[in-house]
Amino acid sequence: MSISCFELTKVYDGGKAGWPALRGLSFEIKMGEFVAVTGPSGCGKSTLLNIIGLLDEPTGGRYALNGRDVLTLSDRERSDTRRDEIGFIFQSFHLLNRLSSVENVGLPLMYAGADGAERKERAVALLRKVGLHGKEKKIPLELSGGERQRVAIARALANSPKLILADEPTGNLDSASSKEIMQLLVDLNAEGITVIMVTHDKELAARAGRNIRMRDGRIEQ
Ligand SMILES: Nc1ncnc2c1ncn2[C@@H]1O[C@H](COP(=O)(O)OP(=O)(O)OP(=O)(O)O)[C@@H](O)[C@H]1O
Ligand SMILES: [Mg+2]
Repeated sequence: MSISCFELTKVYDGGKAGWPALRGLSFEIKMGEFVAVTGPSGCGKSTLLNIIGLLDEPTGGRYALNGRDVLTLSDRERSDTRRDEIGFIFQSFHLLNRLSSVENVGLPLMYAGADGAERKERAVALLRKVGLHGKEKKIPLELSGGERQRVAIARALANSPKLILADEPTGNLDSASSKEIMQLLVDLNAEGITVIMVTHDKELAARAGRNIRMRDGRIEQ
């Protein structure tokens, strides 16, 4: 997916007046890039990722996804794009605690209309891909942090996204698991998936193809 943002701004309702979360960001991300977004807490990284992922709308500026202005998308097109083209990974995994690995991974497939057998087959294959063969029936509580994040990555891959948005995916992990998760993202990027990852980890950011450094709602570098 290619991303093009011009003078993007975001002011939250109820946010501090005069303190926009985003204050005019302009940048391009080309198809197939791996970009790390870094910057101090509160500088707007998650806000930016949510806008890129069509979870939230900017207050001003322009945002084009694959050359198409997202403001021209209907609600239906927005949610379909989100479901079919974008995979999300979060710091706290956002797995459903009562569901097994295979069921968690199968959820997006259910929303996309796949039947039970199809879901199971694809979920098992995805869990194998992320190195979780044999853990299909475990619930999140029975998995380590790194394993939970692998389940979340498998879930993000369920509908074959072209873009992965990861908001501090290693924020809750030890350094060994962090490196493994990073490697997995690097491998997915090598398969052609565009990856945008927010991170506080300088070592991991250095492995991305490019860094966007933010400060106070702007791009510093
Ligand atoms: N839903 C919201 N309503 C009002 N203000 C918000 C909301 N979400 C974020 N903000 C504010 O917007 C600014 C940017 O927040 P954001 O979460 O994007 O920062 P961040 O760079 O992701 O920080 P962190 O590294 O701590 O995750 C902050 O000042 C925050 O308080
Ligand atoms: Mg954040």
